[in-house]
Amino acid sequence: MSASLATVSYIGATILFILSLGGLSNQETSRRGNLYGMIGMALAVAATVFGPQVTMAGIPWIVGAMLVGGAIGLYAARTVQMTQMPELVALMHSMVGLAAMLVGFATFVDPEASKSFTGAAKAIHEAEIYVGILIGAVTFSGSVIAFGKLSGRISGNPVLLPGRHWMNLAGLLVVIWFGREFLGAHSIADAQLPLIVMTVIALLFGIHMVMAIGGADMPVVVSMLNSYSGWAAAATGFMLSNDLLIVTGALVGSSGAILSYIMCNAMNRSFISVIAGGFGTTSVAPKPAGGAAQPAGEVVPVNATETAELLREAKNVIIVPGYGMAVAQAQHTVFEITKHLREKGVNVRFGIHPVAGRMPGHMNVLLAEAKVPYDIVFEMDELNQDFPDTDVAMVIGANDIVNPAAQDDPTSPIAGMPVLEVWKAKTSIVMKRSMASGYAGVDNPLFYKDNNRMLFGDAKKMLDEVLIALKV
Ligand code: TAP
Repeated sequence: MSASLATVSYIGATILFILSLGGLSNQETSRRGNLYGMIGMALAVAATVFGPQVTMAGIPWIVGAMLVGGAIGLYAARTVQMTQMPELVALMHSMVGLAAMLVGFATFVDPEASKSFTGAAKAIHEAEIYVGILIGAVTFSGSVIAFGKLSGRISGNPVLLPGRHWMNLAGLLVVIWFGREFLGAHSIADAQLPLIVMTVIALLFGIHMVMAIGGADMPVVVSMLNSYSGWAAAATGFMLSNDLLIVTGALVGSSGAILSYIMCNAMNRSFISVIAGGFGTTSVAPKPAGGAAQPAGEVVPVNATETAELLREAKNVIIVPGYGMAVAQAQHTVFEITKHLREKGVNVRFGIHPVAGRMPGHMNVLLAEAKVPYDIVFEMDELNQDFPDTDVAMVIGANDIVNPAAQDDPTSPIAGMPVLEVWKAKTSIVMKRSMASGYAGVDNPLFYKDNNRMLFGDAKKMLDEVLIALKV
């Protein structure tokens, strides 16, 4: 493929990536957005593999690597459960970071790569290597720890080292100082030590940054690492002089940064405080996620028939889905119940918390899959004020996102996080299997409120029973 055809293909792929991001911003156009992304990526890979930068001798290596990578990707995509998606995404971010690091080191030791640069261009090229490896290393180790936390292999509790902010600052100063040494070095041998020291510090910083994050902060960290992986890809693009990689990396980096900002706003947190240590870290340490909560009063259990009775008598119902709905795969039964109630004239709406589930948009994806109409699915802010006029608030496998302690208890690890105020409805019904806590590992006073009822059991099983009882 000629250089000009490769450039035209790159421009085409860039346009497709931008259209893809535009499509993904809306549920109704998201399928099209995905399609644009897939075509764009296929075009980008073809233009790179058959482009002028690759010799014929390199093609078998690339095809071999693609077959191995493609097979692993296909296997992962086929076997991963919807509930494991966030950890898979974290693992993929770590791969981008690792790739940026490896490309950085390969470019550094490649004598041909450095020969073609002199003067200011050489300094810029070396700075690209240094910064690329730095971002790559932070992304790599941070994402591996995020993977561990999201998959439950590492405790979700924040690990707060004494003087951690000073340690971070000291690390930053050492990285800057060694950066100067690296740029001033006259040979690969001289530059080696500063580069290795910086890489070790960056790896430790990534570990430290994510270990210090408490359970409920993870959404922000995951989107932040998504952003870092974009910048790592852009840095790789600079090192390899690949314009498309620079543009694509910048698109991922900036969209991830915007998402992190939106998440911080939604969680009522300052971006800097999350990066520097996570929220909830000055208050009592949370219990491990899923651990049994301390009893704090009496709860009122109900069965499926009583739940159906409450729903049948209601005029306004708000359904609040959470992680448990994803675990139980209850979305299709939720849709059937919604359809039945709407046919009977009940006003049914859905309230979606920005961090419900385990990844951004998790609940929206599940509800869309079950064909719940988009126009009855609302963001938290759009219907939080409507709970006092609601007869039944039905909480399906959600916990942290409906926890009143976020508003009432300043010492709670989730204090200040906006939540769906389901307890303001005439009756709230919480559907879950036990009294266990949610992801943040905190007790939920909602369960003990006078107007709250608990429907214990697997969400899918219980909702199936509710549907049968409704149809009787
Ligand atoms: P959680 O607070 O984690 O609560 C989910 C509840 O579902 C659990 O208490 C669990 O109780 C119940 N459950 C689990 N399996 C169930 C099943 N088969 N049937 C019925 N119930 C089941 O979830 P949430 O309210 O959606 O809040 C999300 C949390 O995850 C927040 O803390 C958020 O910060 C965090 N987080 C979110 C993201 C993103 S981006 N969304 C990413 C990482 C972390 P039982 O065990 O008693 O059934």
